[in-house]
Amino acid sequence: MSVRKAIIPVAGYGTRFLPATRSIPKMMIPVLDRPAIHFAVDEATRAGIEHVVFVTSRGQEAVSRYFDRIPDLEQALKRKGDERALEQMLEISDMVETSTVVQEHPLGLGHAVLIAREAVGNEPFAVFLPDDLIWSDSPTISAMIELFSRYGSSVVAVNEVPEEMVSSKGVIAPVAIDERVSRIEAMVEKPAREDAPSRLAIIGRYVLTPDVFDALERVQPGALGEIQLTDAIAMLLPTNKAYAYEFPGTYFDLGTPLGLLKASIHVALQSEDISEELREWISEVL
Ligand code: UTP
Repeated sequence: MSVRKAIIPVAGYGTRFLPATRSIPKMMIPVLDRPAIHFAVDEATRAGIEHVVFVTSRGQEAVSRYFDRIPDLEQALKRKGDERALEQMLEISDMVETSTVVQEHPLGLGHAVLIAREAVGNEPFAVFLPDDLIWSDSPTISAMIELFSRYGSSVVAVNEVPEEMVSSKGVIAPVAIDERVSRIEAMVEKPAREDAPSRLAIIGRYVLTPDVFDALERVQPGALGEIQLTDAIAMLLPTNKAYAYEFPGTYFDLGTPLGLLKASIHVALQSEDISEELREWISEVL
């Protein structure tokens, strides 16, 4: 079963990144030299996704513009003879076909996904929360699409988190069925610590069946008064199985300044051009 489309919601206020997010979309803040959104779209395209639907708020045009052609810049790089930069620019604009829907008010992740319904149509789709960066050899979403094809049901990515974090996450009750794979028996968004059914928290990668849209139409506001995607998937559990994938790789939360800094350092340490100087500097300042 192929998954051709992905929804990437970026319409939140990004309050944990104030004051930068007063005027810059959170996902345009760079991890080293490329905006956070680049990594999510790159993962999607490496997994064969053909079309990305951005859910943005007004004033966030920079997110989709990043993937457009920039003829003036291309000409300038050509004139300079900077073939390498030109190639990189063309790679970005050729990455994937995109469209945008506007969420007027951030009523929750579930609401953001629902308003992309028309753009997706009646077919399975992926959801990426670009705040969640998973650094791994092969795209996490590829493994999830494979599981989706095997089981024919929705798949969410999960990660074991410390107990003190469960109340800020969606948490699942798992029944292990294979290495790294569980069937989800129940799921709950932002449970009180004592009510959390496990420490397996949902991380922002989903492969979903289109009937999740129907559930989102019916679901009532939940945690934080928002329409929650977790609640819609949970609503379908009695009739539609759902699965969880414990992904390998290193996870970074780009939604917080510290998480983004860690990711930048991680990426910089892999970069031939700067890793040596960075290592020297870190050992000097420590
Ligand atoms: P977050 O919970 O991280 O919210 O949303 P946020 O507004 O981005 O950041 P904070 O918590 O205020 O610092 C997870 C993802 O879902 C999107 C966000 O843009 C982010 O990519 N989202 C959330 C929407 O697009 N719409 C919403 O109504 C809520």
